[in-house]
Amino acid sequence: MNKLLVPIDGSEVADRAIQTAISMCKKREQESHISLLHVVSTEAYPNVGVAGITANVDEAIRQEGEELLKSTMQKIDNKGIKIDAILIEGSPGKEICKYADENNYDLIVMGNRGRGAIKELFLGSVSKTVLNDTTCPVLVVK
Ligand SMILES: Nc1ncnc2c1ncn2[C@@H]1O[C@H](COP(=O)(O)OP(=O)(O)OP(=O)(O)O)[C@@H](O)[C@H]1O
Ligand SMILES: [Mg+2]
Repeated sequence: MNKLLVPIDGSEVADRAIQTAISMCKKREQESHISLLHVVSTEAYPNVGVAGITANVDEAIRQEGEELLKSTMQKIDNKGIKIDAILIEGSPGKEICKYADENNYDLIVMGNRGRGAIKELFLGSVSKTVLNDTTCPVLVVK
């Protein structure tokens, strides 16, 4: 089986990564499986002080991540391909590598950039971490 892991953050580039993964799978005769993975970053708001407030922020961010996966699943045309959605909390780059490794994916398909603000960079910090740390083949989509 052909297992593709597509880490998504809601950016246009990540959407293109999904489209690339889908068209690759459609061209193959072999049964394929795509997993969309979103990591709810626990690094996003490290300094929100009071415990109760932190919990509310965490819940809101988690909710946003669930919504992202749900709306993405609804808008993609997945005829003939098995696609599932996974939500993990933690440090995005690290969790993507760990998930790919532990679950024996054949390929990671991800964007070179994401929702970050600095558009001049060729690689964002998440794609950079994944390229550095994973032993899984990676296809970087622009
Ligand atoms: N939280 C996340 N969960 C899953 N995948 C992610 C996440 N963030 C980014 N990605 C994946 O990594 C790709 C590159 O995004 P990255 O975050 O590295 O760039 P950026 O947002 O432009 O830069 P930075 O986050 O360093 O400001 C995205 O297209 C997406 O495939
Ligand atoms: Mg980013």
